[in-house]
Amino acid sequence: MRQTSLRYDAIILGAGGAGLMCAAIAGQRGRKVLLIDHADQPGKKILISGGGRCNFTNINTAADRFLSANKHFAKSALSRYTAPDFIALVDRHNIAWHEKTLGQLFCDGSAKQIVAMLMDECPEDAVTLSLGQSVTDIRHNDGSYHVDYGNEAATAPSLVIATGGPSIPKMGATSFAYDIARQFGLKVVEPRPALVPLTLGGEETLFRSLSGVSAPIIASCGKTAFREAALFTHKGLSGPAILQISSYWRHGEPISVDFLPDLKPDWLTQLKREQPRVSLSKAVNEHLPARLSETLLDRIALAGDLGNLADRKLDEASRRLSQWRFMPNGTEGYAKAEVTAGGISTAELSSKNMEARQMPGLYAIGEAVDVTGWLGGYNFQWAWASGHAAGKAI
Ligand code: FDA
Repeated sequence: MRQTSLRYDAIILGAGGAGLMCAAIAGQRGRKVLLIDHADQPGKKILISGGGRCNFTNINTAADRFLSANKHFAKSALSRYTAPDFIALVDRHNIAWHEKTLGQLFCDGSAKQIVAMLMDECPEDAVTLSLGQSVTDIRHNDGSYHVDYGNEAATAPSLVIATGGPSIPKMGATSFAYDIARQFGLKVVEPRPALVPLTLGGEETLFRSLSGVSAPIIASCGKTAFREAALFTHKGLSGPAILQISSYWRHGEPISVDFLPDLKPDWLTQLKREQPRVSLSKAVNEHLPARLSETLLDRIALAGDLGNLADRKLDEASRRLSQWRFMPNGTEGYAKAEVTAGGISTAELSSKNMEARQMPGLYAIGEAVDVTGWLGGYNFQWAWASGHAAGKAI
């Protein structure tokens, strides 16, 4: 039997990074908050993130490292709750951390520390956490949001959507955020898997034989390029550079890979002048893993000593190696996507406090919103910043 509806100042759906931060900030302001999650513990994605060490922020956070239909939207929240703000919080909780690469900060110990910290930040007398409960109904009337969950019911003037996106469904990720948004008339930008491995088909399946080979490259799609490692997999391409570019890639587009990012376009003809007896394969092998270099040269169909090869052919080989065109036939989908791009349209929300313009008291934060960060701690920084913005407002 359903209990009588308990009254709160705000109900937050989803106890991930964004929901926990929002509950903590609102609770510290003395607001009575109900935080509901269908999982059996809070912050599950935090726990598995960064290989268990949580890449909790990036010191290079800036709005241009986020994808959104409105590239300015994230600026306001990101500038009011910054990477140094989150680092100060981590320091206050005596959590040791280190910078790994490219401004990415990780716990020295465990991601569990970040979840424990966020839970600690939620004042016990203000924040009620309800785990393992499914939300069965949401209504809005008389200026209040009514939520039925499990056998219980709650009412509040504010409702925060913080249920993330559908990436990694086996962890309990759902599209629930979009359902709630649509129920209240908010538009949703078509969601798609992002930070996800790309798959190769057709003739390019031959690259699958390179599974396990990695190399430092530059991957580009349109005007966007990332210089990091790429990894060949048994389905296609992965590794940080590919995950990054996948967020910008659309079906039917090629991606370009520079396998020799440190070499000048005329490096082969230069080498030919200096060492004409060196073979092309030896020259390329100096810079690439042998299996990769063999496969690429096989495709280029050029062999022999540099001295016996025409400059024009060598320049063409060099160009191919630095602008290798892959035509991915898809991605590994939500099962492998670190995040979901797209989501609740930013056009519906205030960039200051994340409240829906046409639906007073309704808020959306974190990955549920059409704001997607690069790989490297940016998505958590968005979860903290957007959660903080709404936590100050509800
Ligand atoms: P999040 O998905 O964390 O939380 C949503 C919550 O809502 C979950 O607790 C879920 O159980 C709950 N929920 C969903 N549907 C519900 C429903 N119907 N009813 C009730 N509750 C529901 N980012 C980063 O910056 N650094 C990193 O190191 C990593 N690493 C990483 C590794 C892996 C494997 C993944 C999959 C992702 C990352 N990320 C990351 C991305 C990062 O985890 C992600 O962007 C944030 O967790 C998003 O936070 P949110 O709180 O918005 O959603």
